[in-house]
Amino acid sequence: MKILIACEYSGVVRDAFTARGHHAISCDLLPTESPGYHWEGDIFDCLKFHHYNFDLMIAHPECKYLCFSGERWITEIPGRMKLRLEAFEFFKELYNLPIKKICIENSHSIFLNREFKKPT
Ligand SMILES: C[S@@+](CC[C@H](N)C(=O)[O-])C[C@H]1O[C@@H](n2cnc3c(N)ncnc32)[C@H](O)[C@@H]1O
Repeated sequence: MKILIACEYSGVVRDAFTARGHHAISCDLLPTESPGYHWEGDIFDCLKFHHYNFDLMIAHPECKYLCFSGERWITEIPGRMKLRLEAFEFFKELYNLPIKKICIENSHSIFLNREFKKPT
């Protein structure tokens, strides 16, 4: 399969799929920590370049502003709610991509459970 590991710089998931014979690409704003096929830059540029032609995408977007463990800071730190809403938009953009199989990994989030849906 042709697989995109979105928001990954470690290369761990990419390398696991590559070792099993898949064509796996990781993508992150940061350089990869492990030599391999890595797109350093924005995920949406990577997707456009590849014409969205992936069988599977596994994404690891930032959970900092969405997760339950950060809940109290949403009200205590000014500007945090705006960052949460931006993170939510990013999450939904990933979820709605025209790729047949999509898996998005994220921490436990009461916000996502309420505003989006529970993990499946
Ligand atoms: C929580 S980390 C996930 C790290 C991953 N588990 C790994 O092993 O490398 C979230 C990552 O999303 C990346 N990121 C945020 N916005 C991005 C974007 N627009 N395009 C690509 N990567 C992005 C960040 O640079 C960050 O490394």
